[in-house]
Amino acid sequence: MPVLTFANTKGGAGKTTAVLILASELAGRGNRVTILDADPRGWISRWHAIAGASSLISVAPVNEETIEAATARAKKRGGYILIDLPSSQDALLAKAVGLADHVLIPVQGCAMDAQGGAEVLELLKELDESCDVRIPHSVVLTRVNAAVTTRALQAAKDFLAARGISTLSAAIAERAAYRDVFDKGGMLQAMNPDDVSNLPKALENAARLADAVLAMMPQKAARPAAARKVPVARAA
Ligand SMILES: Nc1ncnc2c1ncn2[C@@H]1O[C@H](COP(=O)(O)OP(=O)(O)O)[C@@H](O)[C@H]1O
Ligand SMILES: [Mg+2]
Repeated sequence: MPVLTFANTKGGAGKTTAVLILASELAGRGNRVTILDADPRGWISRWHAIAGASSLISVAPVNEETIEAATARAKKRGGYILIDLPSSQDALLAKAVGLADHVLIPVQGCAMDAQGGAEVLELLKELDESCDVRIPHSVVLTRVNAAVTTRALQAAKDFLAARGISTLSAAIAERAAYRDVFDKGGMLQAMNPDDVSNLPKALENAARLADAVLAMMPQKAARPAAARKVPVARAA
């Protein structure tokens, strides 16, 4: 029952989008997924309220007072627990980071505008040095434009590695599907390829993202809820 917290105090870094892509892919593979929606704006809850999400995904709104009990309940349910945080630096962030098996820090790849990510890394360092609590963490490069070369991406990873920060092997590309799914609701896999440009590439990217996340914490991998893939209805 791995807990993954998505944190970056910069708004628009791609936290909520990363949560939804990963939840969609993990549920598509037959895993239970609980999303703890800690953002008072409730983007994930709104998405979930639209019909069409997999029954393997449940979403619970949480705040600073309820996040610990909600995590304990989600652990009993089994599967993966993803925490979507707002872009604030407060006690909620500290709690969500403390509950995590792994903290993923989405940072926009090209701009390398990593200020918000640096604040999260600072918090992780403080937990390590002051409280002797070491929480594995990595940066996930997001909104990477299709035109960005492998070399430019490698340069970004090298920049972070030189500062002792590991980067997830898969980056998240800028894709229309990742935006549209919030409006349309339902699963990425069930979107209509005629309505969304480059849907196969978005799905392929989601699969690589999940592979990279699972490879990072093999000992914690959750057992699938069903032995076979869960069928998802294709949108009309
Ligand atoms: N990979 C992506 N492809 C396309 N649009 C994206 C992507 N990541 C984020 N966005 C868009 O950027 C905006 C901010 O992303 P969001 O995930 O809400 O960031 P955060 O949760 O960190 O504030 C949203 O409008 C979202 O649709
Ligand atoms: Mg968000």
